[in-house]
Amino acid sequence: MKAKKITEALIDHHNEMRKLVKEIEKDASKFIFLKKHLDIHHELEEDLLLSKLHSKKDIKDESLESQEEHVVLNQALLGLADFPKDNQRWMIKFKVFDEILDHHLEEEEEDLFPEAEKALSEKELTDLGTQFIELKKQRLSAVLETKPVKELEKPKAKK
Ligand SMILES: [Fe+2]
Ligand SMILES: [Fe+2]
Repeated sequence: MKAKKITEALIDHHNEMRKLVKEIEKDASKFIFLKKHLDIHHELEEDLLLSKLHSKKDIKDESLESQEEHVVLNQALLGLADFPKDNQRWMIKFKVFDEILDHHLEEEEEDLFPEAEKALSEKELTDLGTQFIELKKQRLSAVLETKPVKELEKPKAKK
């Protein structure tokens, strides 16, 4: 299989999270999976990619902006985790959160990642892509108690 650039691997993960958002709109109990995915996504995106872009003059501002948006999103995730899901306002709060998330993912995909692909070499991009895919797998299986994600996402059978 062809090695993926980190930008491509991050977009794959964005799409996985977009799917989760749709599932949460029908079943709020799945929110915890999105929180785990997004926590890991932010950590790895910052450690592997943004930290490198902060030193590139042309994209420093956009890269810092992405990091600041992570701070806002992380706060919103904590707020949603703490708020009772049976309260009608939870889904309203989630929709507002999703609008911010959507804006963030689009901005990365349309502005930041194309710039990153110009600023870093093909080899750097694919080396980082391989690291991202491996670390994401490790960290997700650790927080999801080593069970495959698919299994945990299946609705529980009625007793
Ligand atoms: Fe991000
Ligand atoms: Fe991202």
